[in-house]
Amino acid sequence: MLGEFMYCNPTKLHFGKHALDHLAEEMQNFGPKVLLAYGGGSIKQYGLYDQVMQILHDCAKEVIELPGVMPNPTVDKLYEGCALAREHDVDLILAVGGGSVCDYAKALSVSAWCKEDPWEKYYLRMEDVDNRIIPVGCVLTMVGTGSEMNGGSVITHPRQKLKIGHVFGENVFPKFSILNPELTYTLPQYQMVAGIYDIFNHILEQYFSGEDDNTTDYIAEGLMRSLIHSSRIAVKDPKNYEARSNIMWSATWALNTLLDKGKTTDWMVHMIGQSIGAYTDATHGMTLAAVSDAYYRFICPYGLAKFKRFAENVWNIDPNGKSDETVAAEGLSAMKEWMQQLGLVLHISELGVTEDMWEGIADGTFLLDGGYKTLTKEDVIQILRESM
Ligand code: NZQ
Ligand code: ZN
Repeated sequence: MLGEFMYCNPTKLHFGKHALDHLAEEMQNFGPKVLLAYGGGSIKQYGLYDQVMQILHDCAKEVIELPGVMPNPTVDKLYEGCALAREHDVDLILAVGGGSVCDYAKALSVSAWCKEDPWEKYYLRMEDVDNRIIPVGCVLTMVGTGSEMNGGSVITHPRQKLKIGHVFGENVFPKFSILNPELTYTLPQYQMVAGIYDIFNHILEQYFSGEDDNTTDYIAEGLMRSLIHSSRIAVKDPKNYEARSNIMWSATWALNTLLDKGKTTDWMVHMIGQSIGAYTDATHGMTLAAVSDAYYRFICPYGLAKFKRFAENVWNIDPNGKSDETVAAEGLSAMKEWMQQLGLVLHISELGVTEDMWEGIADGTFLLDGGYKTLTKEDVIQILRESM
């Protein structure tokens, strides 16, 4: 049953091959000082940096550059950005890159003028923002996280071995995001498929909760079918615009607050994956892929009806003459086969996890209660063991 909710998504999207043309018109809405945040160099390598700089200069912007935002951005990088944003009193943070750069820009937007330690305030104590927020805009180059249209911002504290996401409110969502699927063509295959699985898992995390007849679940099934279809094309033909553009659009809708309406949501694959990320700095989507088979087989008996529905509606498993358990298991096997075809990492040992880390990873895993079973620490360790 859909309860009461408020739905608002304030991010304006420009989508398509000419989406970057709209950057200049967006610039009119902000003051003269732009902090340009980007990653380790891909935007320079492939020419996007020059294009963006040209547009910013044509708009008479003063550009303050903040390069080197790493995948899984760290708290130390956040502190560095805070000092820079304050020093120049910037009017806009423009993130050009993947989810890491977009997440980083959002963290910075609420942290630059925060009087306390932002790691402690937002990530450990999970408090709301009560200071000035610098607006954020995004030019997306990597597809998966949905960060371009949500308030999520994941930061890693390597010394504390914690990777934590804070989901901020609409006031922190990007003011605009520019989505040109062609900008994702240069992604290495490893990143492309990791992103595809990240999208898929965002949908699963919200789908596998509740047993009611919920419109959201039908939307989720449609998105999953589209993603499976397009992913099979994209792995063979990465420059297929139709496939890449559909994947990009699915990513946005998978995590822009639509799919959690009326749902308690699960998110335990992400909680375990993030803790693995804190220990290994592995690619986000791969940390999810590597624990998914073990996790979903573990919770399947607790949400059997939904897993059966998943098998039939997403993987076209014929239920005739079979037990519910068999249908559900065949659905999960079909999912695993698809993951193998994509070339995803299916074992956490391949990401650098060793047995002596299990205890710490389990301790760093937040145990949420929205899914079909609330895990215990021992359950997490069992899932890690089975994921090796
Ligand atoms: O740094 P550069 O040189 O740009 O290289 C990046 C990076 O190495 C490269 N890349 C990006 N676009 C490219 C490209 N290489 C060639 N051509 C391009 N067009 O790809 C690598 C990975 O980029 P990254 O931004 O780290 O990937 P992703 O988009 O998967 O973001 C991952 C981060 O987002 C968080 C994750 O935890 C992780 O920290 N998440 C954010 C969420 C949210 N905001 O709601 C939800 C997600 O579940 C996730 O937790
Ligand atoms: Zn994710």
